[in-house]
Amino acid sequence: MRSPAGCSDGGAAGRSIRPAEDGGSVEIIDQTQLPFRFVVRRLRTVADAAAAIRDMQVRGAPLIGATAAFGMAFAMRDDPSDANLAAAAKSLSATRPTGVNLRWAVDGMRASLQPLPPDDRAAAAWKRAAEICEEDAEICSAIGDHGLPLIRGAWEAKGRRVNVLTHCNAGRLATVEWGTALAPVYKAHEAGIPVHVWVDETRPRNQGGRLTAWELARRGVPHTVVVDNAGGHLMQNGMVDLCVTGADRVTAAGDVCNKIGTYLKALAARDNGVPFHVAVPGPTIDWTMNDGVTNMPIEERGAEEVSTMTGLTADGRVATVEIVPEDSPVANHAFDVTPARLVTGLISERGICAASKEGLRGLYPEMFAEPARPVGDAS
Ligand code: MRU
Repeated sequence: MRSPAGCSDGGAAGRSIRPAEDGGSVEIIDQTQLPFRFVVRRLRTVADAAAAIRDMQVRGAPLIGATAAFGMAFAMRDDPSDANLAAAAKSLSATRPTGVNLRWAVDGMRASLQPLPPDDRAAAAWKRAAEICEEDAEICSAIGDHGLPLIRGAWEAKGRRVNVLTHCNAGRLATVEWGTALAPVYKAHEAGIPVHVWVDETRPRNQGGRLTAWELARRGVPHTVVVDNAGGHLMQNGMVDLCVTGADRVTAAGDVCNKIGTYLKALAARDNGVPFHVAVPGPTIDWTMNDGVTNMPIEERGAEEVSTMTGLTADGRVATVEIVPEDSPVANHAFDVTPARLVTGLISERGICAASKEGLRGLYPEMFAEPARPVGDAS
């Protein structure tokens, strides 16, 4: 692929968000420009952070959470009042409705900052946002460690290259570092296990074809981009050993909300006896939600994401073209829910468990603990 003048590919690995040396801003990779241009942008205000999330310069549930945390920190630096704390939380929370890491980060920041005197809030907010980034990197690395045996096991059982199918981008670009679904792949590749990834293109925004392919290529991981409808055929013909996807929200019962099209892959996997695993960091689990199929807030995005496509022209320009008749209505549901019964296992930073309340209780007992009753309370 030809690159526009001045384009750099940005290197193989590293952080997707980085506090800048000036101590008051963060650098992000503008993911709307990949794979055609590698552009680093600087966010300085809560409005910058909200816009970067809304416009999907940053995306992927964990990275959205980390960016929102810095958005709260910018707000506290500019005006640490109670009113501004509430306003920042409101504006950031309204940017994208489905991924739960956003709410986790914003509510968590607000709860820790509210009790502090306003003068202490800016420093505390910056510190906590930086900690969230470090924690995300550690969580994703641990997901990689726990998922690695699945790939190693398939290699040992089959004695040949392991074929993993993934959907959307749940790699380093969707997180601070490593990724969720791709962390086991990167760890397997580093361990010398022959692994190849089928990359679903992931219409309409092509996070697979644009982002997953980009980051796998940068790390030298063998991969092949396929159209979204190819998965069933590949599985039927023994060309997929396991599916691993990420998640934007997992319910306390193990239902998985992820990029639109994930559900169809899980159905095809079940029909063909292919294990279907979901990589999920703790902050992506919504402990308040039990039934994901009927209650999940599914983001509906602009029609232009479906009715146009953007790509690189032969003369090196990035261009957008219409691909749907002008007078045809389009719909753009961005996520779907895969019921827990179709999920072979959840890979979290604490290990692998069944996609069920019991499975999650085994890994996160504290989230199911009964609140202690006051002595003498017989109710
Ligand atoms: O709309 P996006 O790009 O923010 O969607 C998020 C995703 O890339 C995926 O659904 C992903 O699997 C979850 S984030 C690790």
